[in-house]
Amino acid sequence: MASVSRRTFLKMGGSVAAGVAIGASELAQAAPTTAGETQVTLPYKKQVIARAQKLQVNKPVAFNYPDAASPCVLIKMGTPVPGGVGPDRDIVAYSTQCTHMGCPVNYDAEKRIFKCPCHFSMFDAEQAGQMISGQATENLPSIVLEYNHTDDTVRAVAVEGLIYGRQSNVL
Ligand code: FES
Repeated sequence: MASVSRRTFLKMGGSVAAGVAIGASELAQAAPTTAGETQVTLPYKKQVIARAQKLQVNKPVAFNYPDAASPCVLIKMGTPVPGGVGPDRDIVAYSTQCTHMGCPVNYDAEKRIFKCPCHFSMFDAEQAGQMISGQATENLPSIVLEYNHTDDTVRAVAVEGLIYGRQSNVL
């Protein structure tokens, strides 16, 4: 493993403390960039969420990722969508904590958007969690999914976007 630059080390903040507990070798994979700085990819556990054939269109499945304190939903949209996985490229997942102040968002199945009851932010489930309106300034974090054709499983493998209240998504 390449050494982590001081600047990157500081950016990692509390993740380093967590790394002590789980083992430094599991904390991060670092690779030198062309700019000479080290880029760090934080590790995520892979977690089976569902079997694609058992999912019903537009029926959210609740789960937690990357840890028990992070509520999420997985939805089979029924038509291909950006970031969608599975045989129909239509399965997506999101954190359900609003990016404004962390309130739990609700899924509106008719409009296919997430609505925050606290200050009325809305996010598009068919457009990678894009913020539509409201107080939030960031999109809803997407849970990166992988589909395994062999056993039909859909797995969560990473998070795109910062889950509300965290300095990194792996704490
Ligand atoms: Fe969701 Fe404020 S917490 S809009």
